[in-house]
Amino acid sequence: MAGSEFNYRMANESDAEALVPLINHAFEMELQYFDSERIDLAQTREHLKKGTILLAESDGRLAGCNYVELRGEIGYFGLLSVDPVWQGRGLGRKLVEQAEGFCREAGCCVMQIRVLNHRTELPPFYEKLGYSAARVEEVEQVPFARVPYHFLIMEKPLL
Ligand SMILES: CC(C)(COP(=O)(O)OP(=O)(O)OC[C@H]1O[C@@H](n2cnc3c(N)ncnc32)[C@H](O)[C@@H]1OP(=O)(O)O)[C@@H](O)C(=O)NCCC(=O)NCCS
Repeated sequence: MAGSEFNYRMANESDAEALVPLINHAFEMELQYFDSERIDLAQTREHLKKGTILLAESDGRLAGCNYVELRGEIGYFGLLSVDPVWQGRGLGRKLVEQAEGFCREAGCCVMQIRVLNHRTELPPFYEKLGYSAARVEEVEQVPFARVPYHFLIMEKPLL
């Protein structure tokens, strides 16, 4: 079964250092839009305090992660990262499903994701998992952005 060769667990503070290279490696292609890497250690620790990071491991090594945050009735996930060597094997789907299960159990009725507008390959991936475009979110441009950008908010009802 796709994704079944992995072990899943919730990250704790001691996983922060290993999460940084996993996420930055997965998001390397965004260096064409931003001068800075996706995340640093301090930001990773902040995420661990504010929400939950779901991990997938293979033979004790990190293969993927997904950050989940409860925002009242809305469940949010982000930083979905699959190590490039493990991509295309169903792990991204599995980590999204796990985030949905986590939020459903916590009482959320909608799941939300924010997609960088330049990543045109991602909406078809999320559509395949049941998400649809809800709205555009304009944001204050960060100084390390190489190009103007905004986000596409995609949503899925959690039934
Ligand atoms: C996006 C990402 C998480 C996908 O993970 P993955 O493990 O490769 O994806 P999966 O193997 O679970 O694919 C799930 C389904 O989506 C499909 N899919 C994957 N990429 C797709 C794409 N670009 N367009 C359309 N469908 C796609 C797969 O074919 C699969 O369909 P199937 O189950 O019917 O075969 C992974 O590529 C990644 O980490 N990318 C870099 C970080 C990133 O961009 N994260 C998202 C930020 S919002």
